[in-house]
Amino acid sequence: MNVPFYTSTREYAQLKGDFDSAIGAVLERGDFILGKDVEAFETEAAAYLGARYAVGVASGTDALVIAADILGYRDGAEVLTPTFTFFASTSCVARLGGRPVLVDMDEETLNMDLADAERRITAKTKGIIPVHLFLQSTPMQETMDLARRHGLSVLEDAAEAFGMESLVDGRWRKSGTIADIGIYSFFPTKTLGAYGDAGLMTTNDEELYRKIRSYRVHGTTVKYHHDHIGYNSRLDTIQAAVLRVKLARIEASIASRKRHAEHYRSRLAGVSGLRMQEIKDGNRGVYYVFNVLVPDRDGLAASLKEKGIGTSVYYPMPLHLQKCFEYLGHKKGDFPVAERICGEILALPMFPELTSDELDYVCDSIASYYL
Ligand SMILES: Cc1ncc(COP(=O)(O)O)c(C=O)c1O
Repeated sequence: MNVPFYTSTREYAQLKGDFDSAIGAVLERGDFILGKDVEAFETEAAAYLGARYAVGVASGTDALVIAADILGYRDGAEVLTPTFTFFASTSCVARLGGRPVLVDMDEETLNMDLADAERRITAKTKGIIPVHLFLQSTPMQETMDLARRHGLSVLEDAAEAFGMESLVDGRWRKSGTIADIGIYSFFPTKTLGAYGDAGLMTTNDEELYRKIRSYRVHGTTVKYHHDHIGYNSRLDTIQAAVLRVKLARIEASIASRKRHAEHYRSRLAGVSGLRMQEIKDGNRGVYYVFNVLVPDRDGLAASLKEKGIGTSVYYPMPLHLQKCFEYLGHKKGDFPVAERICGEILALPMFPELTSDELDYVCDSIASYYL
């Protein structure tokens, strides 16, 4: 049996009529740049997320750079970011001349260790980028309290967190809508995935909203009049049309992923040496990725590959050991939790259309490897 790590083709086959007519309508109208579907998607996404404002951009990476620029994470400003994350959560600061201050991770949630973050604050620290990885958010109550204590701004990297929620100030809030600016990626594998690159920025602050809208079109407010040096980073209308089809069904997708995660949990519970993350109280998790922590990770991945099962490693190397960040002066051993997790973590197939037979096959194959 072949079990892909991820595929978009099953969902497309199921909803072909909807996707084809949504894309066809854009072609009929020809409104490719900031067309009708972009504004409609922004309105619908803001309503779903409970954010005052949402602005579509070209990718999650662009969203991070634009947000970092607007929040002043440049010119020597220090910004706390985890060493265990996707590259863009940190490169957004480095590319603007800010200094990423890397932070170790919490082994149970795989998110930033906030106690370690607080220890690294100096007079130059300007902001913090909590990244909500895989299935649950960085504790946002604690993050916002820490930021208030030290006068920091907060940029939520919710690229992987569409639909996650956590309790903040006694209210359930969607991840990515709590900080000054939140960003999302709609890379195809994401819980809400486009048919190409796409991203979104959210804020509850009107001034930041105006800046974000201006920065995504070369810093203009009036055509050909530039208040800032911005970017060319608009959400593509065809991608917005695809995203609207998927957003209308997002809760069903999240529920399917949750069922698959429960399946994995119950079938893998007895496998010797294998660990899985629990969702902490005060969180409504979303299973964007289902990870296991295992001994001999590379051996297991190779054996699953031989059996036709796709897996992925998020992330094989922490950022403090990446060549491009040598100038930060770190060495092996500086972030022991992240270094260990990078050698143990393995992501299993996870997308809504997986079948029970496929899940059983993955679980049986893992169990037999450790017999
Ligand atoms: C945590 C995190 N941040 C940022 C990004 C960048 O998003 P994109 O691939 O849409 O540029 C991703 C996605 O790949 C991500 O997982």
